[in-house]
Amino acid sequence: MRKIYIVFLLVAAAVACAPEAESNVVSTYSINSPDGKLEAGFYITDEGVPSYSLSMEGREVISNSRLGYSIRHEGGVNDIMIFEDEGKMHPLDMTRGFKVKDVVKSAHDDTWKPVWGELGEIRDHYNEMAVTLLHDGVREVVIRFRLFDDGLGFRYEFPKQKRLNYFIIGQEKTEFALAEDYTTFWIAGDYDANEFLYETSPASEIAKLYPTFDRSGNSCTYPMPVPGVQTPVMMKSPDGGLYVNIHEAALDNYSSMQLEVSGVKFTSHLVPDQLGNRGYMQTPCSSPWRTIVATGNAAEVLESKMILNLNEPCALAATDWIKPQKFMGVWFEMFLPGFGTWAYSSDPNVKIGVTDFASLPPTGRHAANTENVKKYIDFASKHGIPALLVEGWDIGWEDWAGQYKEHVFDFTTPYPDFDVEALREYGRKKGVQLVMHHETSSSAGNYERYLDRAYQFMKDNNYSVVKSGYVGPIMPRGEFHYGQSMVNHYLHCIRRGADYRVMVDAHEAVRPTGMHRTYPNYLAAESGRGTEFETFFAKGNAPEHTTIMPFTRLMGGPMDYTPGIFEQKMSYYGDHKSQARIHTTLVKQLALYVTMYSPLQMVADIPSNYERFPDAFRFIKDVVTDWDYSKVLEAEPGDYITIARRAKGADRWFVGAITDENSRTATIDFSQLSTAAADSDIAQRANGADRLLERLGMVPGVKYEATIYADGADAHWDNNPQDYTITKRIVTTETVLTIALAQGGGCAISLKPMSSKKLF
Ligand code: NOJ
Ligand code: CA
Repeated sequence: MRKIYIVFLLVAAAVACAPEAESNVVSTYSINSPDGKLEAGFYITDEGVPSYSLSMEGREVISNSRLGYSIRHEGGVNDIMIFEDEGKMHPLDMTRGFKVKDVVKSAHDDTWKPVWGELGEIRDHYNEMAVTLLHDGVREVVIRFRLFDDGLGFRYEFPKQKRLNYFIIGQEKTEFALAEDYTTFWIAGDYDANEFLYETSPASEIAKLYPTFDRSGNSCTYPMPVPGVQTPVMMKSPDGGLYVNIHEAALDNYSSMQLEVSGVKFTSHLVPDQLGNRGYMQTPCSSPWRTIVATGNAAEVLESKMILNLNEPCALAATDWIKPQKFMGVWFEMFLPGFGTWAYSSDPNVKIGVTDFASLPPTGRHAANTENVKKYIDFASKHGIPALLVEGWDIGWEDWAGQYKEHVFDFTTPYPDFDVEALREYGRKKGVQLVMHHETSSSAGNYERYLDRAYQFMKDNNYSVVKSGYVGPIMPRGEFHYGQSMVNHYLHCIRRGADYRVMVDAHEAVRPTGMHRTYPNYLAAESGRGTEFETFFAKGNAPEHTTIMPFTRLMGGPMDYTPGIFEQKMSYYGDHKSQARIHTTLVKQLALYVTMYSPLQMVADIPSNYERFPDAFRFIKDVVTDWDYSKVLEAEPGDYITIARRAKGADRWFVGAITDENSRTATIDFSQLSTAAADSDIAQRANGADRLLERLGMVPGVKYEATIYADGADAHWDNNPQDYTITKRIVTTETVLTIALAQGGGCAISLKPMSSKKLF
C-alpha cells in the first residue's frame, strides 16, 4: 500500500505560534504527525536564520533550535570557503542569510518487510515537509522534515548546482534545545571510544560531570574537547510524561554526530579529522537524518522503528544467504584468568612475511589450536549451535596492539597449530560453520589492502560471518574511529562483504544508525560496552547497564553484547583475589537473549559452564534470533525491561524480563499479546505492529506450555547468582504472570502451543 499526496506551498505561512526568543521570525511553517499528536515547526527570521521546534500534544519537547553550518577552508581556522562562486573563494556562514524558496508538503504510508528483525513487517508512516532555502540568493539547501507518530527526522540536502560543488564542513550547527531539564542517560563525547557505563543526571549537570567521566578499560580514547555526549542519548522529563531520544539515521560519507552541551541545549559536534575538518562534501549530497524519538511512554521508544524507516531500502539484489544465528566462540576463555591466549608465542618481535612462526617457542596456551577448536565444534554440534567463532587463529597477535605498526595481520595465514582445511571439513561434517575473526589492530589501511584476499579466503574455507575489530588508535594515523573517513571504511567492508556474501559483526566501529536496513549483511556491531568488561575489573557492568542499553546503543541497531555467562565470578578460575565478576544472576543472562535484540547472538561462556547447568542451558538452545513480532510489555530506562517476542514463522514465544540492582515483580500480561489487543487504542501505532498482532498474536483460548526460568528465592547478583528455578505452567491470553526478579536478576520464559491453531 502506498499513498503519496503532494501539496505545493509557495510562500505560505502557517499560524503556529512563533518562538518567543526569536521575535523577529518572519515565516513559520509546520506539520503534524499522522496521528496529530506531534507538531514540528520551521521558522526563519528577518536575518535569514533558520530554526525548528517539536511539540507533543501542545507540550514543547524541543524548543526553538537553530539550524545550519559553518564552512571552512581546509586546515584554516577562519571561515573561508572553497565554493566555486564566480571563481572566487570567500568566507561562508551558513547559519544565516537564508530565504525560503518553497515548501513542499507530502504524506507517506507504506509497509516493508525487513530481511530480519524484531517485526516481520514495518509500517513507514509520516508527514513530510521539504523546505528549500536560498543562501545569499545563490545556493540551495533543502531541509527535509519527516514527522512520524513517534518522532521527528530531518536532514540537510545539498542538490547539485552550479554555485556549489565541493565544500568542507567546519561544523554542523544543529541545535537541540531541550524544553525542560530532562533526566539524561548519557556517555561522554569521545572520538575513539564508547565502551562506557552510562551516567544518569539532569541535562544541566552534564557539563559539570564531564571532566571526571570514567573512560577506563578502553584501549584508545580521545575525549571530545568540550563537554558533551554521544548519541543515542536517552532522556525523560522530570514529571515522567515524556521520553525523548536523540540519534541519527543513515550515516554514510559523513562524520558521526556527537552533541556539545551547554545548560539544557545540545549542539551537533561532528568528529573531525586531524586537520580539524569535519566533512569533505561534493553536491549532490546530504547529511544523515537527525532523529528525535518523542513519546509518552518508555515502551514506545523501544518499539520505535523510525530510525530504520529513515534508512534506504535494501540495496542487495539477493538476501537468501543472510542468516540470523547463534554462535559459540573460542573466545571467552581468552578473558579468563589462566586460560587461553590469542598469541601463539610470547616473542613480541615478530614480522609477518619475515618471521617463521613455526620456529617460535609456543606459549602452550594458544586457544585456537586444532584440537581445542574440534572440542568446541563437538559441543556446538551436540547442542545445535550452528556457528563457532575462533579468535587468534591468524599470525601476528604477538605485537598486535601497539607501536602504531601498520602491517600486523594479513588475515589469511594461520598459526602453525591451526589447520584450516581440517577444521573446515570437521565443521562441515558436524554441521558447525566457523566464524572468521579479523582483528585489524585499527590499521584500516592495511585491512583494506588485504580485504579482497581476506574475504576470498573466507569463501574458500566456508566462512560466511566475520567478526572484525578495531582495537587501538586508527591508522592512517590521525584519523578517529568515528570520523568521516572511518565511517566510509566500515561501510566499505560491509558493501564489499555483500559482494562476497559475507555477513559482518564489527567491534569498536562507529555505532549503528539503522544501515542494516540497506545492508542486511551488517548483522551486528559491538560499539558499546559488552560483557567482556565484566572480566576486566571489579567495576564491570553495573546491573542497570542492560536496562539502559536498549534505550541508547541499541536504538541504532543490534549489538553483539555476548550474553549467556553462567559462571559469574572470575575468582572461580583460580585467581582468588580477583574481584571481577558478572553483575547479574544466571537467569538474567538468559533474559538478555530477548531484551538485547540481535540477529547474531553469542552463546558466550565456555562449554564446561554450560555442562554444569544443562537445564538452564536449554533456554539458550531453544531461543531464536529472528522474530515476526515483538512487544515491550513494560520498560523504564535504568530500571527494568520486559519484552515478549514471537519466533519468525512459528507459533513459539519467548519472554525476557530484567531488572537493575533492585528486586522487583515483573508483570507479564498475556492479554497484551492476544489477537484481540490489536483492536485496542494502540492500533494506530506507527510501526504497524498492530497489524501483525492481529495475524500473529496469541489466539484467545489456545493453551501454551510455558517454561519459566526464574531467580530462586534467595538469588542475588552478588552473593547468590546461580540460584534459579525452572517450572512449567499452562498460560492463555487470560493469564497474568507476576514473577519476582532478584536484585540484578531476571526471568526468561519460552512458550509453545499445546494445540495447533490456524495462523492466517
Ligand atoms: C575487542 C573485542 O571487543 C573482543 O571481542 C575481541 O576479542 C578483542 N578485541 C580482540 O580482537
Ligand atoms: Ca570491544
